[in-house]
Amino acid sequence: MLGPRAMTQNLSLQPIMNSQITSLKESSTLAIHQRVKELKGQGQNVVHFGFGQSPFAVPDNIQQALREASHQKEYLPTLGLRELREAFCSFQKELYGYDFHPDTVLVGPGSKELIFQALFVLEGPLLIPAPSWVSYGPQAHIRGKTVHTILTKKANNYKLTPEELEQSCLHLLVNRQKILILNSPNNPTGTVYTDSELAALAEVCRQHGIIVISDEIYSLTNFSGRPHRGFAHHYPEGTITTGGLSKGHSAGGYRLGILAAPLNFKSVIKALTAMVSETYSAVSAPTQYAAIAAYSLDPKMMSYIEQCTHIHRATGHYLHRRFQQMGLDCIQPEGAFYLFPDFEPFLPQLRKLHLDDSPSLCRHLLDKYAVATLPASDFYFLPEFPACRVATVDYDGPAVHRAALSAPQLDDSFVEAHCPRLKEGADRIEHFIRSELKK
Ligand SMILES: Cc1ncc(COP(=O)(O)O)c(C=O)c1O
Repeated sequence: MLGPRAMTQNLSLQPIMNSQITSLKESSTLAIHQRVKELKGQGQNVVHFGFGQSPFAVPDNIQQALREASHQKEYLPTLGLRELREAFCSFQKELYGYDFHPDTVLVGPGSKELIFQALFVLEGPLLIPAPSWVSYGPQAHIRGKTVHTILTKKANNYKLTPEELEQSCLHLLVNRQKILILNSPNNPTGTVYTDSELAALAEVCRQHGIIVISDEIYSLTNFSGRPHRGFAHHYPEGTITTGGLSKGHSAGGYRLGILAAPLNFKSVIKALTAMVSETYSAVSAPTQYAAIAAYSLDPKMMSYIEQCTHIHRATGHYLHRRFQQMGLDCIQPEGAFYLFPDFEPFLPQLRKLHLDDSPSLCRHLLDKYAVATLPASDFYFLPEFPACRVATVDYDGPAVHRAALSAPQLDDSFVEAHCPRLKEGADRIEHFIRSELKK
């Protein structure tokens, strides 16, 4: 039996932690999701434009494969199942013409972790076009990397131009390796780079020895009408491509991502393999077996993914039209499931209300109109730019998919009838503009 002394707890003991980590806050995308859950729990009717998760069901063949793999209990190779890496390479070859090799393909628990691992092993500062996904900067920060954000222009649809990239290189050490991360289709703007835009950027990367991480997690949700193209098409020797099951395959919670490096980056793969082997060892075995089905090019699955992408297109175009009609500036999305509307046309009115920075504006939309969005400042934009990211997925995915199968067309009336939360969110933002900004 423990004596009285052993049972007293010293509650004043405070562990000392890594300051690189303690200065981080929880990822804003996950934080807004939690906040919306809390508000909904308190009975508030919040429209959730804050979190980008595919609303659709995981394709049947993948679910079936997961069930059948439940007995798989062995630790798998650190690089990932060979059969999965081969399936991934064939899938990428067939759909996009990529020449990836299974020896330099690594399976990880989500592409987020793989991007982190890649940033961890690669030396040099990170160049991030603004706006870009919220997690690149904090990941570089954990590693103690310098981050250079390159502000893109609305007039260029927020796409990085070769001139902007060149200009930012002038501020950096000439002979030092640099890393650029580029995401197309893009979160948060929904833009998709064209082939010639990528080719021009690749030329600058080649000249300056920039290593590119091409984040292609949304490659299957491209509705630009142009085939998906990535950096590896134009700069194969210097590009690391990442993707996974989270978006097109609607299986974010499976936590399976894939990284493909060129054969001349074998040393990078070796370093990553060593790091993985000393940390998480390998991705869960049943998930990897299920992922083989995801990369099988099964015609039923491929047509299901295409149908879901048509719905993303319809919802994105619907909200784009609504935002334009209410006087906001917004680019028409070409992929992913986001829009990046800005309230710049209402700047004088916003100033009077002290809502002329994106965090205050988004707070106001949530507190007064119960519409959750994320401020542009979370995407590396200056806070004074009054824009927000809107995710277009607040609807019942399986029900909308069923309805879409028999709908004559996926137009605005389809979206309003089957995705009423999107209409409601747009109505509330319109109400804010009419009642407070257009007085
Ligand atoms: C641009 C972008 N990259 C990467 C990821 C990470 O995806 P996952 O880790 O689920 O593969 C996300 C997820 O939201 C994203 O939006």
